[in-house]
Amino acid sequence: MVQISEVTDKTTSLPVSSAKENRTAAHTHIKGLGLNEYGTAKPIEGGFVGQQDAREACGIIVDLIKSKKMSGKAVLIAGPPATGKTALALAVSQELGPKVPFCPIVGSELYSAEVKKTSALMENFRKAIGLRIKETKEVYEGEVIELTPEEAENPLGGYGKTISHVIVGLKTAKGTKNLRLDPSIYESLQKERVAVGDVIYIESNTGAVKRVGRSDAYATEFDLEAEEYVPLPKGEVHKKKEIVQDVTLHDLDVANARPQGGQDVLSMMGQLLKPKKTEITDKLRSEVNKVVSKYIDQGVAELIPGVLFIDEVNMLDLEIFTYLNKALESNIAPIVILASNRGLTTVKGSDDLSIKAPHGCPPDLIDRLLIVRTLPYNQDEIKTIITKRANLENLTLSEEAINKLSHDGVQTSLRYALQLLTPAGILSSIAGRSTVELQDVEECELLFLDSRRSTKVLNESKTFL
Ligand SMILES: Nc1ncnc2c1ncn2[C@@H]1O[C@H](COP(=O)(O)OP(=O)(O)O)[C@@H](O)[C@H]1O
Ligand SMILES: [Mg+2]
Repeated sequence: MVQISEVTDKTTSLPVSSAKENRTAAHTHIKGLGLNEYGTAKPIEGGFVGQQDAREACGIIVDLIKSKKMSGKAVLIAGPPATGKTALALAVSQELGPKVPFCPIVGSELYSAEVKKTSALMENFRKAIGLRIKETKEVYEGEVIELTPEEAENPLGGYGKTISHVIVGLKTAKGTKNLRLDPSIYESLQKERVAVGDVIYIESNTGAVKRVGRSDAYATEFDLEAEEYVPLPKGEVHKKKEIVQDVTLHDLDVANARPQGGQDVLSMMGQLLKPKKTEITDKLRSEVNKVVSKYIDQGVAELIPGVLFIDEVNMLDLEIFTYLNKALESNIAPIVILASNRGLTTVKGSDDLSIKAPHGCPPDLIDRLLIVRTLPYNQDEIKTIITKRANLENLTLSEEAINKLSHDGVQTSLRYALQLLTPAGILSSIAGRSTVELQDVEECELLFLDSRRSTKVLNESKTFL
């Protein structure tokens, strides 16, 4: 019988990555740049349709990044709205490899009353830099065959009972073992919703519990899709295991900014009163960097620079631009991709408002940029993109409906046409049809105005405001 009794050091278990959710919903069909081995773009590949020049340019950028020749430089994707700028940036991060962080923000997100703009930019920089930590840990791993908490009288008096310890039986292909665990591990077992039949591992020196999945012996014919079935672990229950964790530098900053305090009563009270989150200072970041570079030197961790995508660059001001120039030159920087659909505008925060700069970027930044241009789509391309999205949303469209939508796409924008797709689907299903017909699309057009028509309405009737 093994006993894991003392569980004190819980700080080593890292938080789950807090990186922003990718805005996949609009871009779920994008699966990469769709280039062949010579870097040429096929007309329809990787979820992309057309826009070949921009895709090939992005392919070269991916090569530059992989051969580490992008330091100090950044990318600007410029083109009209809905020409795939965001989609291209996402595809670049996909081409760099799995689990490469993609952090999309809009220029105006950096302005907050609480955090300095430069600090907000730094935070997003660090959200876009991943760290893969490989550790060999001593663990107990197996399929749970028994899970019994044992109760005892409450030592503090009172009427309730407490859990004194919990017995967990673990089974592998080689044998079984019963563990008697500390009640605090019982809590983490409950948090991970561990039940009999799950495959789990428990780190032996920290007591951290991780649920790997459901043992495939329990797979039924009614597969629950959310469930991941894993085979019964091989080898002994008690063994050494390589554990890979993907976090971002920002996760590490946050984990270290929390007040930790000691074990005595006073410092515990102090923890309750202190605000949950303290400021992440430059000092803290450089401390984290030191530890990270130590880990990298020891071969425990590997840096994975991701992509920071800043949409609407013209919303950034001079103060941020100067900081951006500096941040691009630091030795750990993500790939920065800027996007803009503006031509010549004034640079925010400059003294002389009569001076216009391309995309509202100061010349010294423009100097460092590789600029990729996106072009509007023709009707055929729009038609193919709409068909792809319709497939993804499980909609069947009649030929006339698709033609009408792609015609709209050329007249207004691709995004408007894509946005009509879902409501048209709803209208057709209300009418009890399984295909979306021309009339559904036409009805949607009446219900929802595009930008040009809505401006026209406003110009004609001056009743608003
Ligand atoms: N070449 C393309 N092939 C397939 N889908 C595209 C293409 N270009 C844009 N899209 C899709 O059209 C929509 C608008 O594109 P987006 O990248 O958001 O445009 P932008 O950022 O330039 O305004 C998104 O759903 C995107 O995935
Ligand atoms: Mg966009």
